[in-house]
Amino acid sequence: MAKAEPKETYREIDIIDLKVAFGKFYALKGASFFANKREFLGVIGASGAGKTTVLRVLTGQLKPTDGQAFVGGYDVTKKSKLISLLVGYVPQLEHLSLYYDFNALQNAQFFGRMFGLRSKEIEERARNVLTILGFDEELITKRIDRLSGGERKRVSICLGMIHNPPVLLLDEPTTGLDAHLRHETLNYLKELNYELGTTMVIISHDLEIVDYCTRVVLLEEGEVSQFGTPEELISTLPGKGESIRVVLHTMTQDMIKRIESLPGVEYTAAAGRNAMKLFIDDPSEQLLPIIHRLNEMKVPFEEVSLVEADFFDYFQVKPWKQHPREIGGTAS
Ligand SMILES: Nc1ncnc2c1ncn2[C@@H]1O[C@H](COP(=O)(O)OP(=O)(O)O)[C@@H](O)[C@H]1O
Ligand SMILES: [Mg+2]
Repeated sequence: MAKAEPKETYREIDIIDLKVAFGKFYALKGASFFANKREFLGVIGASGAGKTTVLRVLTGQLKPTDGQAFVGGYDVTKKSKLISLLVGYVPQLEHLSLYYDFNALQNAQFFGRMFGLRSKEIEERARNVLTILGFDEELITKRIDRLSGGERKRVSICLGMIHNPPVLLLDEPTTGLDAHLRHETLNYLKELNYELGTTMVIISHDLEIVDYCTRVVLLEEGEVSQFGTPEELISTLPGKGESIRVVLHTMTQDMIKRIESLPGVEYTAAAGRNAMKLFIDDPSEQLLPIIHRLNEMKVPFEEVSLVEADFFDYFQVKPWKQHPREIGGTAS
């Protein structure tokens, strides 16, 4: 490892103007983004956006047509052996990689051997990771086909971590799980990230992962449409992270129109039953004028207050380049 020449970077993942073509079709059209060590990076996009293609480049399964990708400072196309040690991979369809009639520890043995690890090392490592993932002795020794969907996903995560990689790539780890299990799985990943310092790259078509991410990249048809920390993205909204919430007695189309036309209001977002958030510059200054104006317009309201903007607001109001509502539809 010491002999290779690492690129001067503190970035654990660095993707620079990455292009991947299949024939004439470009699945990635020049994407750039990064994650620092120990970060939790969410790669979010609708189906076909190019998310899996990014992961295939990072694991060395696919050569970029143009641009570069670095893991731990190493060019993935030049250091493929090393890269396979630096990254762990959790595929979307774990049933293709798990042996169902063996338990988690036995599965770990198959996987660990591919990395040339000794049996005792593998067992120690698997027990350590599975314990962080909430497995007790009973679950550790239970056949995979008797585990629940969420538990199988955790075994699959353990296999990706078996060789102690500094980076873990996960392809839609929460897809197909119900809401409770999605959050549980993300919490366990957060725990691994915290306990072992693993840099996480998590693909999803679901905005709810944003709450767990330190950085987010949005892919749309092979291009990066947004990239930043959740706070950075939210602070690009008028109000810089604050908004005015208006709760009405009843909300009619006519009232919505009138509220949208209030002076200074750049965007509005639904904010629960009979409520809207208004995005406006200097919202704290605008609070009283807005109340005054609503009274003048005879719009009956229950409450007008200053509230924080969150990521769901961001996606409601931020104009999308192509398919405004395709992503985020499943998040609520
Ligand atoms: N091996 C391939 N040959 C041709 N087209 C492909 C191949 N792999 C992916 N694509 C196309 O590239 C686009 C991006 O695919 P993918 O990265 O799998 O999307 P996502 O994971 O975001 O759903 C899709 O339009 C897909 O059909
Ligand atoms: Mg995919």
